[in-house]
Amino acid sequence: MHQRRRITVRYYNLFFHPLAKTPGPLLARMSTIPSFYHACKGDRHVWIWQKFQIYGDTFRATPNQVLFNNTRTYADIHGYRAEIACSSFYTAWKRDKDDDTMINVTDTALHMRKRKLVQLIELLCEGSDPDTWSASRNMATWAVSSSREDMLQFLLNAIDPETKQPAFSKRNELEAETRSLLLAGTDTSSLTITALFFYLSQYPRVLAKATAEVRSVFSSADEIVLGTALSSCKYLRACIDETLRMSHPAPSELPRQILAGGAEIDGHTYPARTEVGCAAWSMGRDESMYGDVNKYRPERWIPSADPDWEAEVRALKKSFHPFSMGRMNCTGQRLAVLELMLVSARTIWATDFRLAPGFSNGEGSPGMGWGQRLRGVYVYKDAYLTLKDGPVLQFKPRAL
Ligand code: HEM
Repeated sequence: MHQRRRITVRYYNLFFHPLAKTPGPLLARMSTIPSFYHACKGDRHVWIWQKFQIYGDTFRATPNQVLFNNTRTYADIHGYRAEIACSSFYTAWKRDKDDDTMINVTDTALHMRKRKLVQLIELLCEGSDPDTWSASRNMATWAVSSSREDMLQFLLNAIDPETKQPAFSKRNELEAETRSLLLAGTDTSSLTITALFFYLSQYPRVLAKATAEVRSVFSSADEIVLGTALSSCKYLRACIDETLRMSHPAPSELPRQILAGGAEIDGHTYPARTEVGCAAWSMGRDESMYGDVNKYRPERWIPSADPDWEAEVRALKKSFHPFSMGRMNCTGQRLAVLELMLVSARTIWATDFRLAPGFSNGEGSPGMGWGQRLRGVYVYKDAYLTLKDGPVLQFKPRAL
């Protein structure tokens, strides 16, 4: 009986489903098995990229899911649109039915309310432009200062603007939101810093440029604090963008669901309940945008006096969304960039480092299969949090 039902559903998915005409692998159009298999294997981001090479910039990844690989659809999906909300995938992060946090609620109104309450991260960074720094703060001492102005303190002090009462008066709410911030902020920054050091160690030319920049701006490691001097390190900042392009910590799609009434994406109408998304690992490898996609080239992010080049860089930046966009964009993005700049600048200023001889952990290799064959490209697993190994580096104090 079950077997017959399963066959009927697969037959329906293939021939009569509203997405029946959307291209994709035969098995993926019938069932969720291929997507689930690659999710278990940790290479779903690479599988998605492979399918874009075969089917073009739109394909059906499961019977009910369509993925896109162009910048037009990114804004269509993630911009502030009433008819697209986050998908039920996010509820998988719930520990129990009362565990409602900013990152696991799917109801748009509730999400916006939670988000308002956790605006603490904005307070850390002041100002609205991700490239504008707050007042100078020495994080090393600031986080443990006598008034204990750390993230937990901000959560504890947060006031609900509607009730004027403490936003997190219940212990379980405070714990849940703290956990969700840790989840959102730890693995993402850790993968990015790891990949950044991988690429710097693989590309001595880039490392030499970043080192020259940091060492010419600062005359001691203690000077490296948040402020205008650090924000003047444009090359280092470009290295971070280039790392996020090639090795984004959320490499597969951030799934969204179309609500009642359907939605138009890239000129096509998709019905209610269709899941849609764009995957960062593939978007960063879009040859029509970046050309030499497998080359770590921070210069692509730096404007020059040449007006054509300037326009090209502006277009690239406009279509690059490592922190997403719209009502679910990363509330920690300024903090993340500050943290990455601080850690990398201090390390580069104080030490010389290189790949440890004989170690190639984290590097692609011909035996790893399509999409992961290239040496000099960082490979990692996507297990919703990322699993990584390497690079193995050797450090020594810089020669003064
Ligand atoms: C390189 C580091 C980081 C990257 C690339 C990154 C990227 C992202 C992206 C793409 C999203 C959207 C997720 C989605 O739509 O499902 C997001 C959401 C979020 N991020 Fe980050 N993130 C980083 C670091 C951080 C840090 C350090 C924090 C805070 C401590 C943080 C807090 C959050 C929160 C709370 C959300 C959920 C926002 C919402 O649902 O309204 N992130 N991040």
